[in-house]
Amino acid sequence: MGSPPWNRDQDPFAELISADAIAQRCAELGAQITRDYAERAKSADIVVLGVLKGSVLFMADLSRHIALPIYLDFIGISSYGDDTKSSGVVQITQDLSRPIADKHVIVVEDIVDTGHTVHYLMENLATRKPASLSLCSLLHKPERSEREVKIDYLGFTIPNKFVVGYGLDIAQQWRNLPFIGFVTT
Ligand code: IMP
Repeated sequence: MGSPPWNRDQDPFAELISADAIAQRCAELGAQITRDYAERAKSADIVVLGVLKGSVLFMADLSRHIALPIYLDFIGISSYGDDTKSSGVVQITQDLSRPIADKHVIVVEDIVDTGHTVHYLMENLATRKPASLSLCSLLHKPERSEREVKIDYLGFTIPNKFVVGYGLDIAQQWRNLPFIGFVTT
């Protein structure tokens, strides 16, 4: 079947990371998480926690490569308006469906940019006393870093470009692209 025929000439982005490269990296990260959590799975539940909305596609693909009995949950966070600039203001727009106390929590993010969002989120989740807390981010833009963030599982390091696709948006659009593109306009 392949990918739908995106009209690359008219679209305001160009491909940065292909769908194949993303699929390959999801398999690698999932295998690594499976190895790292196999022992821990015996003592407590594992919750794979997606940060809405950007992590949804990554979460769906990654979780299918984690060969353990995991729970999926989501948390809604808003840190951006409908533009490309970080406001630095972070708000929980939708909370977890179940408590995470005494559970092994793997947070799944789309991108660590300035780091403010993840910093706030990890501090917030830590107060809920999980058995362990780790971070898996598809992308990292180290040039933009303003907060030190420990990324336990990282998909790709990218240059300082605004990216869209595979869950990431510009003004809420283009999350459905099967690849990651950088904005060209
Ligand atoms: P941070 O707080 O600056 O690290 O921003 C994190 C959030 O901003 C991410 O979860 C994204 O939703 C959004 N974001 C940051 N950079 C980009 C980008 O290049 N494209 C789309 N969204 C982005």
